[in-house]
Amino acid sequence: MTVQFPADFIFGAATASYQIEGAVAEDGRTPSIWDTYSHTPGKVQQGQNGDVACDHYHRYGEDIALMKQLGLDSYRLSLAWPRIKPDDGPVNAAGLAFYDKLVDELLAAGIDPAVTLYHWDLPQTLEDKGGWRVRDTAERFAEYSAVAAEHLGDRVKKWITLNEPFCSSILGYSEGVHAPGAQEGEGALKAAHHLMLGHGLATQRIRSVVPDAQVGITLNLASVQQVSDSPADAEAARRNLLIGNLIFTDPVLAGKYPEHAREVWAPITDFSFIQDGDLETAHQPLDFLGVNFYFPSRPKAVAHDEPDPAKRVASDLGFESVIHDGEYLTEMGWPVDASAFTDLLTWLGDTYGDAVPPIYITENGIACPDVVGADGRVDDQDRIRYVSAHLKAVKDAMDKGVDVRGYYVWSLMDNFEWARGYQPRFGVVHVDYDTLKRTPKASFDWYRGVIQSHEITAG
Ligand code: FCB
Repeated sequence: MTVQFPADFIFGAATASYQIEGAVAEDGRTPSIWDTYSHTPGKVQQGQNGDVACDHYHRYGEDIALMKQLGLDSYRLSLAWPRIKPDDGPVNAAGLAFYDKLVDELLAAGIDPAVTLYHWDLPQTLEDKGGWRVRDTAERFAEYSAVAAEHLGDRVKKWITLNEPFCSSILGYSEGVHAPGAQEGEGALKAAHHLMLGHGLATQRIRSVVPDAQVGITLNLASVQQVSDSPADAEAARRNLLIGNLIFTDPVLAGKYPEHAREVWAPITDFSFIQDGDLETAHQPLDFLGVNFYFPSRPKAVAHDEPDPAKRVASDLGFESVIHDGEYLTEMGWPVDASAFTDLLTWLGDTYGDAVPPIYITENGIACPDVVGADGRVDDQDRIRYVSAHLKAVKDAMDKGVDVRGYYVWSLMDNFEWARGYQPRFGVVHVDYDTLKRTPKASFDWYRGVIQSHEITAG
């Protein structure tokens, strides 16, 4: 079956600064929370870190040539805050100069840059002052965003404030599996709130300096499937939806917090960190919503301790995700279900109606074993199958009336996969971490064909 995308549908690829750049101490860059976290023994698999990563900081020219060969309409990159304002101090011209060169070369190659301001590399100095737990970080983020927009806004028109605030708050401050590695209940909720506030403040600042900017936020949203009719599993599904989606979508799209949020976090009694006007600030008119999707969520209730704000939020939630016997799992251990992607996209409209702006899929992809053959090629048929099925799922949602304008595959190239280190490979370009040699995979050639024809043949 052939699936056709509209002529103006945008095909892109995405990366993030700390995952590819390397050059962590060059041209004035100072440490981010991910430098600290990855250099803390026991945090990242095999003790790996982003010191060198793909060395994109020095090899960006070669990488843009690959993007051009691929035929990308758009490239989603992120800026490193600690390059632009090292230690969140004065503006660093050398840091901005790197992004100038990158943006200019992208435009020269006919590729539209889509820039994420925060893909998790908070300056460590700000973490030392409380990080996202404190309100001031939202203000500092807005200031840094204004600097970036003032400098690049003549050429960059697509701006994404935050990438996946769920990960920055819940994984970083509650589960401790991402930087800064905290395991707190209350701290994570404060972080989530201050991220929402920072998103709103940054959006206002970008608009004031780049009037023709398109501004959005990228959320990783859960496509929640209730696993049984039992009241416990129904409650698990409700909580998964709450923490995975509603505490972010409600402020951004509806200017409120979900009513049952306080009930779930009942032991927290002091909500004074939520000040009058904050939700109005978080609720800015947006030009687009970025959606990242990888796997379905199947929450099953498990026994859990009563909520305690001094402990992790996640342990209070009392659910774990069901994996079916013998089902295919990606290298990340994630199940695959493309129809859950369609369900998620239609859920947004069902829940928020006209308040949902046009959508870009800002990330979707798969980590596969990716064996390099004797001929040096990587025949990643499982990636082609996955991306093809998920593109079809996006088109199914479009056919049901969801306004999706584009799709960015994660990722352009293999890179530092956070706490999992370099083992999971998500790229359509293979990276040899010993030589840093780039080799396009079979999926690269396949995706180039999709971009050219705007068509996929789905099984
Ligand atoms: C997302 C992140 C991205 C990448 C993919 C696999 O959560 O935004 O940086 O690590 O997962």
